[in-house]
Amino acid sequence: MTVVAAVDLRSDTVTLPTPAMRDAMRTAALGDDVYGEDPTVNRLEAVAADRLGKQAAVLVPSGTMANLLALLVHAGPRQEVIVEADSHIFQYEAAGAAVVGGIQLRPLPSATGVLSAEQVAAAVRTDHDPHQPRTAAVAVENTHNRRGGVVWDPGQLAAVAGAARDRGIAVHMDGARLFNAAVALRLAPAAIAAHADTVSFCLSKGLGCPVGSLLTGPAAAIARAREWRKMLGGGMRQAGIIAACGLIGLDRMVDRLADDHANARVLAEGLAELPGVELDPGRVTTNIVMVRLTRLTAAAFVAAAAARGLLCLEEGHDTVRLVTHLGIGPGDITRGLAVAEAVLTG
Ligand SMILES: Cc1ncc(COP(=O)(O)O)c(C=O)c1O
Repeated sequence: MTVVAAVDLRSDTVTLPTPAMRDAMRTAALGDDVYGEDPTVNRLEAVAADRLGKQAAVLVPSGTMANLLALLVHAGPRQEVIVEADSHIFQYEAAGAAVVGGIQLRPLPSATGVLSAEQVAAAVRTDHDPHQPRTAAVAVENTHNRRGGVVWDPGQLAAVAGAARDRGIAVHMDGARLFNAAVALRLAPAAIAAHADTVSFCLSKGLGCPVGSLLTGPAAAIARAREWRKMLGGGMRQAGIIAACGLIGLDRMVDRLADDHANARVLAEGLAELPGVELDPGRVTTNIVMVRLTRLTAAAFVAAAAARGLLCLEEGHDTVRLVTHLGIGPGDITRGLAVAEAVLTG
């Protein structure tokens, strides 16, 4: 019997390290990074800072920790950070800002995951009314995960950043998929990152690395982030084995994100043709496809698709998420669409 591997579209985090990454891990120059002595980590942090046009960067285990460090650097107890209501920070980061930092998150609603400058300006609370928390920062998510990989329009990003700066609050960008945004916009990552004081990005998503994220920003902010990283248990010693993959990710895996975007578009176009699907393929510009189902629940679709070899994620009662990545080629998209069709018409 031939066993056909599943088409795994649950997330771009499911990728396995490439042969080049495995070789790089084996041969990386290593040292104790808590002492600042791992040459490969130091090189990755320098390359990451340079790529994003920032003074400094720090390697951390996850995007969640990178975001938490940023919030801890920008805000403290009794202060608040403005976020979009469907943002990863608000939805999926285990209330870390509140638990660790005593920071209140202030969620603002939006239609697409992208906030407006007017919304941010109106929400900022900087006076000394003792009833109110003081707003310390706004965090934006680019690309926006839960809204289907939405890329912030650079003009709107500039306007939000301007509104924040006018009111003296910091801007953090959760750029877990910043390179997807850069490729979609055909802009240098630094051109996007320039709008934020601190920017996090993940090695372990579209860039195909097994683990790791970076927080980039001004040298003083990153120095404070290092203190928090240590406190949270994120000091990783010979982390050069992770950083070695990160260097390959930044060097060789960015341009190919265009393939993931093209595959996602073909997937979206195919899905949009199927019965019981609500989806505008024109809105799929990066690697995440969110599908609203009108005839099946998301749970029923996910289970039936998995039984036929297509893995995807339930995102609420009627919505399913499918994500393209390094491990997915056009043939997988064809197979995935065939499974989706069988489930929806069967
Ligand atoms: C937008 C966004 N930010 C942050 C994260 C957190 O990354 P990690 O899973 O490495 O903690 C994710 C993970 O999916 C994400 O999609």
